[in-house]
Amino acid sequence: MKILIVDDERNIRLTLKDILGDEGFECKTVPSGEKALAYLAEERVDMMILDVRLPGMDGLEVLEKTLQLEPDLDVLMISGHGTIETAVEAVKRGAYDFLEKPLSMAKVLTAVRNIREKRTLQWKVREEQDREELQYRLVGHSDVMETLRATIRQVAPTDSKVLITGESGTGKELVAQALVSQSQRKGQPFIKFNSAAIPAELVESELFGHEKGAFTGATTRKIGKLERANHGTLFLDEIGDMGLSAQAKILRVIQEGTFERVGGNKTLTIQTRVIAATHKDLEAMVREGTFREDLYYRLNVIPIHIPPLRDHLEDIPDLVDHFQLLFSHQYNFPPKSFSPGALRLLQSYTYPGNVRELKNLLERCSILLPAREITREMLRPFLPAADEVVSSLRSQLTFREAKREFERQFLRTQLQRYDWNISLAARQLGMHQPNLSRKIKELGIEPE
Ligand SMILES: Nc1ncnc2c1ncn2[C@@H]1O[C@H](COP(=O)(O)OP(=O)(O)OP(=O)(O)O)[C@@H](O)[C@H]1O
Ligand SMILES: [Mg+2]
Repeated sequence: MKILIVDDERNIRLTLKDILGDEGFECKTVPSGEKALAYLAEERVDMMILDVRLPGMDGLEVLEKTLQLEPDLDVLMISGHGTIETAVEAVKRGAYDFLEKPLSMAKVLTAVRNIREKRTLQWKVREEQDREELQYRLVGHSDVMETLRATIRQVAPTDSKVLITGESGTGKELVAQALVSQSQRKGQPFIKFNSAAIPAELVESELFGHEKGAFTGATTRKIGKLERANHGTLFLDEIGDMGLSAQAKILRVIQEGTFERVGGNKTLTIQTRVIAATHKDLEAMVREGTFREDLYYRLNVIPIHIPPLRDHLEDIPDLVDHFQLLFSHQYNFPPKSFSPGALRLLQSYTYPGNVRELKNLLERCSILLPAREITREMLRPFLPAADEVVSSLRSQLTFREAKREFERQFLRTQLQRYDWNISLAARQLGMHQPNLSRKIKELGIEPE
């Protein structure tokens, strides 16, 4: 951490620098407020020790100018005889604290250590918040994403029920998160319950809780997710995987706000906003009789459908940047960049697993590829091959790239077929052997 020491007395500057230097602080000393401000305009420091009485611009003015420049800076004032009132005023205007002259070095050290501790803690909290914000950021500026964002903005502040649908990995949980963070229930409990992740026989006790002795193994009372979501939001993920009996109980919660714990006969009342999500076709399930029709209509007050990634491939460059940032935080390495060719290759694939698949693919690349800039060639092995020809037909490649892509895949397949016997392959393909050899080299085709 770096400290700027501002005092017109040379002795004080030197003593402070000495002692704080021994504590491991990097110190810069200046004799006037003007010099301090000039320094701050160029350099960043973590704290400042500032004399109240200075020749030229006085300490109070320096403080104000400094805080305009760096509102977060911790400033420790030093007040001499007769300037204590000014020092108190400085604290009112945002200084961290003040110390009186003659300086007790023990007090200086305590104050500086406190500031250091406070700042370290602040950084940690801020980093945590940044990471969280990053994790839940909805990325993309395609029409698809802008429409989604607009819907979220409209629906979030209302208390109405929302049914989020979309293929696996499209961001249903992320949308639920966004709905909560833009609602009045932000800061209240946000409880997630995933029916698909819990064995069917445990769903009801997880959700509604149970009384002691409700079944073998129920040795204590258990408070369920529903109760914990009181006054907050309950996210029923994978609602299509919920059994009919639990569906009936959830319907009652939605209609009357009441339920009982498993094995209990006391009726409990709760007030919660329900957001549900599924990748299944609930309407079809209603027709088949595996999902309650009345529950479906109760939940589907506001439907939000998230289109698959293949419908907004133009968001891929933004998503790539976003995930690089995320991984660099997570794994502590500098974000990689992707060449334009690599980005186009990423946009040529159809992603049955949607954004999650893209994220996993990028995570693998980040970890396994040492290069700072990822090229198309480096990326190729990370993309499933079978899909390539088909996907290059509907991709955003230029004509030239698509042609090369086809040639590469075609020739590789043919060469494999003839065991990389180039003269045989050339004959079979009706090509001159030197032409085929040139193509192989030009397209960078190699045996797998
Ligand atoms: N638009 C987006 N911007 C940034 N990240 C996204 C976006 N969409 C999805 N993701 C990320 O992709 C991953 C999958 O998202 P999420 O878990 O919300 O999908 P899901 O629809 O709930 O999938 P599943 O049906 O498999 O549960 C998460 O890591 C999420 O952060
Ligand atoms: Mg999900």
